[in-house]
Amino acid sequence: MTSRYEAAKSVFVDSIDIDDYIELESSLSAYNQLLGSIEKPLKMILLFGRPGTGKSILLNRLAQNLKYQKEIHYFEIPSTDKREFFYKLFKVLTKKDLPKNTEVNFSALVNYCKKLRGKREIIILLDEAQMYTPQMMENIRLIADSRAVKFVVSLHQTEDEDLIAKEHFQSRIWEVIELKNASFTDFRDYVHKKLLKKNFFEIANSIKEREMKKMFAFTKGNYREANKLLFTIFEICEYYDKNEPSKINYTHLPQRIIEMAGLKLGYIHA
Ligand SMILES: Nc1ncnc2c1ncn2[C@@H]1O[C@H](COP(=O)(O)OP(=O)(O)O)[C@@H](O)[C@H]1O
Ligand SMILES: [Mg+2]
Repeated sequence: MTSRYEAAKSVFVDSIDIDDYIELESSLSAYNQLLGSIEKPLKMILLFGRPGTGKSILLNRLAQNLKYQKEIHYFEIPSTDKREFFYKLFKVLTKKDLPKNTEVNFSALVNYCKKLRGKREIIILLDEAQMYTPQMMENIRLIADSRAVKFVVSLHQTEDEDLIAKEHFQSRIWEVIELKNASFTDFRDYVHKKLLKKNFFEIANSIKEREMKKMFAFTKGNYREANKLLFTIFEICEYYDKNEPSKINYTHLPQRIIEMAGLKLGYIHA
């Protein structure tokens, strides 16, 4: 027998699917900020925030929405291999593949970009930029100096990386957009809308305010943590649904199940 919770669980598998994007107050404000910034004569824009605050999905949305109006490119996971990165840049800038076994001549590429100034405006979205080496960041800066290419640099902010990030990017021509964990209202909207989008009306309604607050307390409004928690909650529901249906309340998700999930994920300790 399949359980409805099995399908509900899959709603919270962590993924970057632009069709699953949800308009939230904070993401809309960050999106508009980003849109405003790329219209300004800036060379670089920094998108900053802890893991799981929605940076990647925001960049994907931007690339998707602007693809018919602008030359916009999303660079996903960076290769720490300089050669591979230059290949990718070369292709985007020249619209040509580099012949095999040829090295990109970096200063020629910079000169090429300088000639593009005023003719083309290319936007490159660099996700996970903390993985680029300082040397690669320097190369990126040189390309941005041509003013034909604008970079949106997305950076994970972690406890011990805060300083490095700030120092490295301090002196630059940045405009900084910061993404934060969700507010309670955004968190609640996120959980409800994710479920409603896939037609899980009853399940969405079964999550009441008190339980929502508990989830928010566990996850602190981090979207990735929210995905993990909801997945685990529905996993437990699925088990009960199949094995001990008396332990489940279909109209009111029990607080106890949220606590069990919290325990499993280490938000609380027994
Ligand atoms: N506005 C949103 N709409 C839909 N899902 C979102 C939204 N913001 C965040 N998420 C979800 O949260 C998860 C983490 O977001 P992500 O963009 O990967 O964060 P980051 O890149 O900052 O680590 C994504 O897998 C996605 O499922
Ligand atoms: Mg990301």
